[in-house]
Amino acid sequence: MSLSAKHLLGIRDLSREDISVFLQTAEQFKEVLQRPVKKVPSLRDITIVNLFFENSTRTRISFELAEKRLSADTINFTASSSSVSKGETLLDTVNNILSMKVDMVVMRHSASGAPHFLAKHIPAAIINAGDGINEHPTQALLDAFSIREKTGKLEKVKVAIIGDIMHSRVALSNIYLLKKMGADVTVCGPPTLIPKYISEALGIQVNYNLKETLEWCDVANVLRIQLERQNQVLFSSLREYNLTYGISRRLLDELHKEIIIMHPGPINRGVELDSDVADSKQSIILQQVENGVAVRMAVLYLLSNRNAISN
Ligand code: CP
Repeated sequence: MSLSAKHLLGIRDLSREDISVFLQTAEQFKEVLQRPVKKVPSLRDITIVNLFFENSTRTRISFELAEKRLSADTINFTASSSSVSKGETLLDTVNNILSMKVDMVVMRHSASGAPHFLAKHIPAAIINAGDGINEHPTQALLDAFSIREKTGKLEKVKVAIIGDIMHSRVALSNIYLLKKMGADVTVCGPPTLIPKYISEALGIQVNYNLKETLEWCDVANVLRIQLERQNQVLFSSLREYNLTYGISRRLLDELHKEIIIMHPGPINRGVELDSDVADSKQSIILQQVENGVAVRMAVLYLLSNRNAISN
């Protein structure tokens, strides 16, 4: 199995075939991760740098673990403890790291387009681990993997993405991926947190009514309010947001079916999701995190151009 892309900068430019290759390869790595010995030598002698210019728990640990499971050599870079604080540019920082013979770069950055900029200037394969409000492609792949694992398909699955759509890279990558794979997508949230014309631009439905959206969907992917990315007041209070768009046990019990609850994390409990929903059997939030390791192993492996999953 091979890819048409050299980098993973976003889902927007991937073909349906590329997405299928990532998901099928992730299935093979999920099987590897069930074994008593969870490590394979697939990326032995490959060196990967994890460049995190923005905070992360899940994505960072997941990439690090995926790299270790593939036997790669890894370097971890955190902007706050680096010479970036002395004024070094992104390109100088990366070129200095690459001069130490690094093969692949995993990067998270608060600036949308930062990994695309790097891809134009450096020879290494680049994996976008989240850039500003643009894309978070490995999150969308692990979300799709988790939906398919749970429902058996992506085609015609009804997925609602609920919350702060405007500032969410997870929402955009999920929409691109789900549309390419034939799923039906509705976004739901306060009108101030949903971009105008998103329906026409991306071929999805918009519904501002949470109850109607939950009645419609098979899967609800619930997003955090990205307060750190908002420079103006877009809703009156978190309490009011919870009353109108928070998912409670009572709301789910009133539906005529049982839906799957997803969240990319970190959760703000009591705001977008109540604890008794986040921790319920309908929630696959921790399965998403578990699947993230297999998906990132697949991404690293396929972009490294090594051609056999050895054991
Ligand atoms: N889902 C996600 O990107 O989480 P982190 O910010 O903790 O990596």
